[in-house]
Amino acid sequence: MYNFDKIIDRQGTSCVKYDLRKEVFGTEDLLPMWVADMDFQSPPAVTEAARRLSEHGVFGYTFRSESSKEAFISWVAKMHNWDVKIEWITSSPGIVAALPIAIRAFTEKGDKVLIQTPVYPPFHSIVKEQKRELLCSPLYQKDGQYYVDWDDFEAKLKSGVKLFILCNSHNPLGRAWSREELKQMGDLCCKYGVKIFSDEIHSDLALFGNKHTVLASVSEEIAQITITGMAPSKTFNIAGMLNSVIVSSSRELLGAFNKELTSLHLDLGNIFGHITMEAAYKGGEDWLSHLIKYLEGNVNYVYDFLNKELPAVKMVKPQSSFLLWLDFRATGYTHDEVSERLIKVAKLGLNDGAQFGTEGIGFRRMNIGAPLSVVREGMERLKSAF
Ligand SMILES: Cc1ncc(COP(=O)(O)O)c(C=O)c1O
Repeated sequence: MYNFDKIIDRQGTSCVKYDLRKEVFGTEDLLPMWVADMDFQSPPAVTEAARRLSEHGVFGYTFRSESSKEAFISWVAKMHNWDVKIEWITSSPGIVAALPIAIRAFTEKGDKVLIQTPVYPPFHSIVKEQKRELLCSPLYQKDGQYYVDWDDFEAKLKSGVKLFILCNSHNPLGRAWSREELKQMGDLCCKYGVKIFSDEIHSDLALFGNKHTVLASVSEEIAQITITGMAPSKTFNIAGMLNSVIVSSSRELLGAFNKELTSLHLDLGNIFGHITMEAAYKGGEDWLSHLIKYLEGNVNYVYDFLNKELPAVKMVKPQSSFLLWLDFRATGYTHDEVSERLIKVAKLGLNDGAQFGTEGIGFRRMNIGAPLSVVREGMERLKSAF
């Protein structure tokens, strides 16, 4: 019904993953399995809505309609058991764009902002660009899973942190945080007067029967200190539409966020973003359930391949999304040697783990949101170099 095996040539579409290979890796001769979008066509509901809009041919200023907000509300109620009121919703041209807005809204220059590392690189750079002090609480691995170091987390919060940026589920570790873990994080933030920006962009992609829990749904107290970022972009592969949904039941937090948003004149949004978001939330569920199965197949393929053919490269199976965190430390090569071998021998473009924090030294992130034949090719290339 949906063909996730189909190879679609993305070259020449100003596509970051393919068309920036030379700039990022120094060569175009490389299979790109890096930046976090997928090589699949979006659901028919999305392509059809975009086609209708193209044919209409008028692309004037647009705002986010009530009906697209209602579509989001129905989606999160059904998928995440999260009850959102329409007046809690605002927008942003993306979650990355929402981060500096939230940092400016909730903190002052020099304030401490906490993240859990290794984590999505813009968390690091945006805090520093906004001239706030970056604090990192490292996550650790035990018995094949990643966990919060509660002593370290609490000690950092206690040191005067003003904002905690949570990645739920976590990129690159693929953790779909449990309700208990989220409650503990949220309760500690309540205790120390810390606000939370909860980046839940990967929320719809829980794998292998894992469940995504929305932080703000855990308790009313936690909801009052939290602003949540969600988007249809990862779920339905429409990241180029630059559109996300920002939610808070706290009037104070929402008001402060909106003040920054409107002062930067970023509140209107893109016409294709609005139209495709509504179409995706109304008509993309069946496609998503097939996508999830396909991604699980790709993850299992890589996991089995590494175990059988390349045991020096290790991975923990992600609970969510299409990003794998690969550990190269047992290959005997240094971090820089791994980079060189990936580019020159394997001819494979992965994300450098060091960009996710010092805990990422020796690691690379691989994107398996692609046809299985591409993933197989990637693994053969990997094997040829390690
Ligand atoms: C955790 C996380 N947040 C945000 C983004 C990007 O968000 P946006 O495209 O809405 O700016 C990504 C993309 O990889 C991500 O993994």
